[in-house]
Amino acid sequence: MSRRNVFKALLVLAFTVLLGTAWLHQTGTNKAPDWGRSPDHIVLSWTADPATTVTITWRTSPDIFKSLVQYAPRLNDNPFPAGSSLARGRVTTLKTNLGNYNIHNATLTNLRPGVIYLYRVGDGTRWSRIYSFTTEARNTGQFTAVVFGDSQCSSENYRVWRETLLAAVKRETPRFIINAGDLVDNGSDQKQWEAWFAAGKGVLEGLPEMPAVGNHESPWLEGDRLPQSFLAQFSLPENGPSGLKELVYSFDYGDAHFVILDSQVGSNSPLFKLQQNWLKEDLKRTKQRWKIVIFHRPPYYAKTNRANDDVKEAFCPILEENHADLVINGHDHAVMRTYPIAGGRIVARSKGTVYLIAGRSGEKTYSDLSQKRWAQYFYNPVDQPTYTALKFTEGSLRVICKKMDGTILDAYVIEKSS
Ligand SMILES: [Fe+2]
Ligand SMILES: [Fe+2]
Repeated sequence: MSRRNVFKALLVLAFTVLLGTAWLHQTGTNKAPDWGRSPDHIVLSWTADPATTVTITWRTSPDIFKSLVQYAPRLNDNPFPAGSSLARGRVTTLKTNLGNYNIHNATLTNLRPGVIYLYRVGDGTRWSRIYSFTTEARNTGQFTAVVFGDSQCSSENYRVWRETLLAAVKRETPRFIINAGDLVDNGSDQKQWEAWFAAGKGVLEGLPEMPAVGNHESPWLEGDRLPQSFLAQFSLPENGPSGLKELVYSFDYGDAHFVILDSQVGSNSPLFKLQQNWLKEDLKRTKQRWKIVIFHRPPYYAKTNRANDDVKEAFCPILEENHADLVINGHDHAVMRTYPIAGGRIVARSKGTVYLIAGRSGEKTYSDLSQKRWAQYFYNPVDQPTYTALKFTEGSLRVICKKMDGTILDAYVIEKSS
């Protein structure tokens, strides 16, 4: 072979290797990325009673199957992990476009209400840092929760979401947080989740996160409707209808009942009716003073040509008949609050359901938002991201929408005696 031909052959070989590497990376069949073998993506949630349990989810590289949580009440005279207990987690393998990894989750039970606990997760050899959480105190009448509208960012830089999250948590000191869908821009792209979890570091390990699924978590890249990455990476109550477990669920905190729905279920899906029936039963059954319902697509919208009539027909009659106090949506990246509505009509304060769109906590904004006739308050947050604080006291719920810098956009009070 001439020198020229050897050079040509080498060039072809190099090109083939390069192409192969790129293809392997794209199709996700390359070997697992080099994550630390120590746990990361640690996130708290509740799958049972917030006063006596907490659920911890984390991930490791796919070769780690040992799954442990070490935990103990925080005591000044007893440095952790002395006197701690051990709980075992369950492990499942999640396939992603960046490779496989193991998701671990463990529910700590028989905790004492109103107590600060320290914990760490790991395999018995490699442990995470030590974090803390606080169980719900008995007879909690007064607390704050923070709800975030779409945290999605178009790139893998979730700086805006991180800044909004940190500002809200520092200012409001909530007991837990809720994301109203579109946490990420493409829920089938693990790069987005890497960025989302990285942005939540330092918060998600200590505050339960109870998310609703949005259209951007829905897997348009896969044949399957179920948002596998969302379902795997959050551990949520399994009290919803079968087929929609952990996408549709409810939980109680203090005197409030929180319901999370999946507004991506189309009316031609057999799951549609199931969700409606479940919602009816769930709202009828609760004896809690406050009923707060969260789902992604707004029945009362702010964006041009995006009415979500299917969602309105599916949920609104049930919500209004069963006296939901407040409905919180995302999707439109607007800050909007309706007049109280009952039977589709505007009614007096505290007599109907108020629908809220929770702004945006990520970088995406829309230029075609406007104040519709049902909106008592409207703002297009192009200048800054926003969040919504829900401040519960014995007889009132204050709903406060703020810009990231703390400027109050809208404050609304719902009063209710027992
Ligand atoms: Fe969105
Ligand atoms: Fe959306």
